[in-house]
Amino acid sequence: MKTEIIYFSATGTTKAVVTAIAKGLTGNVHFIDITQPEKRKNVTAVNGDLIIIAIPVYGERIPHFLFDYIKQIKGNGTLLAAVSVYGNMGFGISLEQFKDFAKTNNFRLIAAGTFIGQHTYTSKEAPVAYGRPDEQDLSQAEFFARSIQQKIKMGDFTCPEIPKCILAGFITELPDSGTRFLVRQPRIKGTSCNACGACARKCPVGAIDLNTLEINESKCLRCYACVKICPKEARTGGLRLSVFRTIFYHIGMKRKKNQIFL
Ligand SMILES: Cc1cc2nc3c(=O)[nH]c(=O)nc-3n(C[C@H](O)[C@H](O)[C@H](O)COP(=O)(O)O)c2cc1C
Ligand code: SF4
Ligand code: SF4
Repeated sequence: MKTEIIYFSATGTTKAVVTAIAKGLTGNVHFIDITQPEKRKNVTAVNGDLIIIAIPVYGERIPHFLFDYIKQIKGNGTLLAAVSVYGNMGFGISLEQFKDFAKTNNFRLIAAGTFIGQHTYTSKEAPVAYGRPDEQDLSQAEFFARSIQQKIKMGDFTCPEIPKCILAGFITELPDSGTRFLVRQPRIKGTSCNACGACARKCPVGAIDLNTLEINESKCLRCYACVKICPKEARTGGLRLSVFRTIFYHIGMKRKKNQIFL
């Protein structure tokens, strides 16, 4: 059996989850990392018995720019497992979007899973999902993979029941600019930047000019990949107001469980 895992991961948590999923699979597993913009220039042609698509949740849904890309992938009847990774706040409509996508693009959705990853905006003061996925999460991701293969082995290709999000209408209408209102665009602070360019090369939407290191405000997702990769801790960001941090921590402090749907 050949499995293709297509994933996007700006800060590595989705990558950790799909790596664990791959450990649970038998047969040939091929990764397609679509995090960097040049990897999304051409549409991926599916070439496997099972396709797994994994994304992080932004604004309770599949990030817009990413969904626009994914929507071009044609299934031709191939089996699909959908994975969303979220920061312990909510996965919103992400799995429902995958279900609609499967129907429209001729995939057979046979499994879906939603896993917790450390929240992008976690901090010492508001440690939301800090350190996740942890060992327990990763072993559940492996279990998810084994369960998918078991389902296929039994000849069961039914579509799982995905719970409906009661705020779906509201979430669909939320503008991306909401995050910009809450979260600062990363900036270079102090004099420690040595112009290594790692942040510019890491940016998943090419928003950082490699020469000037300036960020194109309208392109920036606030994914903080540039902040996390900086070896000098020169790039900083954070929530705009301390009140946002209090609300953020209040919503995200209680450990949520991963969920799988088969
Ligand atoms: C712009 C943006 C919006 C986000 N929105 C949500 C959200 O709605 N719910 C949530 O639980 N986590 C949210 N997160 C957190 C990410 O889903 C989480 O940190 C995820 O693990 C990041 O995946 P990655 O490390 O593979 O990039 C958001 C992160 C970003 C950057
Ligand atoms: S510039 Fe914006 S989009 Fe690019 S890595 Fe930094 S936070 Fe992400
Ligand atoms: S990664 Fe850090 S040190 Fe390197 S160019 Fe970017 S801000 Fe400067």
